[in-house]
Amino acid sequence: MTDNQSGNSLGTQTSPDGVTAAGVGPWGFTITGVGAALPDKVLTNHDLTAWMDTTDDWIRERTGISERRIGGSTSGLATEAARIALAEASVDATDIDQVILATTSPDYICPGTAPAVANELGLQCGAFDVQAACSGWVYGLIVANGLMLQGMNRILVIGAESLDRITDYHDRGTGILFGNGAGAAVVERSETGGGRLLSWDLGSAGNLVHILYAEHGDVLKMDGKEVFRQAVTVIQHSAKTSLERAGLTIDDIDLVIPHQANVRIVESAWRKLGFSMDKTAMVLERTGNTSAASIPLALKDAELNGRVNPGDTVMFIGFGAGMTWASAIVEWGGQ
Ligand code: UT7
Repeated sequence: MTDNQSGNSLGTQTSPDGVTAAGVGPWGFTITGVGAALPDKVLTNHDLTAWMDTTDDWIRERTGISERRIGGSTSGLATEAARIALAEASVDATDIDQVILATTSPDYICPGTAPAVANELGLQCGAFDVQAACSGWVYGLIVANGLMLQGMNRILVIGAESLDRITDYHDRGTGILFGNGAGAAVVERSETGGGRLLSWDLGSAGNLVHILYAEHGDVLKMDGKEVFRQAVTVIQHSAKTSLERAGLTIDDIDLVIPHQANVRIVESAWRKLGFSMDKTAMVLERTGNTSAASIPLALKDAELNGRVNPGDTVMFIGFGAGMTWASAIVEWGGQ
């Protein structure tokens, strides 16, 4: 029986060290532009108390969330975030080689949402969705690196969600958590260096599908306590794996940008890893859990607050339904 089947969720699906070392590439891997988009409509904790047996205090204390956004569409939010990222990178949309869109809430079950976003941007390049739930944007980043190995130069990696379409805002277990939003990054390859991808780790435990899922036409169902417990475990596992592969220790990391699900999940994992919340980018309080969008949304916030600077070592770490998990350590190039 592999670890994957044993139920402890620490699978053996991560890439072998040899592949990781060779696969990160000798060239620059630089995020040159980041964009974020949130719909206008705010749903506060106080709003929820109008129809749900809950309180603002309980939600803030147990999750760290004060409000979330609802409305908009996945493709619309993704396009808005992508335009901001392209402008910041000073990259013309026509110079993009590929659009990768991580989402759990696509506009349609079929087709994927990425082609619609590419079309809105005036592109006919390759465009596909990544469905790895809340880990999706980090999966997308690693896939982008793989496409650069094949010669691509500029890739849009977007995380976008309209989770209000699959969330029951009358359910105390899930309605307090989820919201809509999008974040996008322009990732560029350069022969002259700049940033670098130092290491990565991807994993899954499909035996845990039942702890967080949505059936066709239905809303998200979650065993919150079990998701919490598994998340704390897989974050530590993935962080340690990526650190080991990069030959780094937790003290070498300048900033961690984790998936924004519940602040207590991050605090609990960090306590065990000996990592500081001061070096952690969080936007959860204002966005709620935006699944695949949460990491690039937190990245944009960190960038706006001057928390990512050239030469910094930044760790992205995602976890979510599947279960899936993903981490990547990047030497920040930026512009
Ligand atoms: O992207 C990954 C997605 N999901 C997650 O990361 C979710 C991970 N899990 C969680 O965030 C937490 O499990 C929740 C926030 C969903 C729930 O928090 P909890 O601390 O695990 O609460 P609980 O279910 O153990 O309930 C504790 C108490 C219970 O009352 P009693 O039995 O102790 O009297 C619940 O009935 O809190 C009560 N409760 C609530 N009270 C007010 C549960 N939900 C609520 C609520 N408002 N919304």
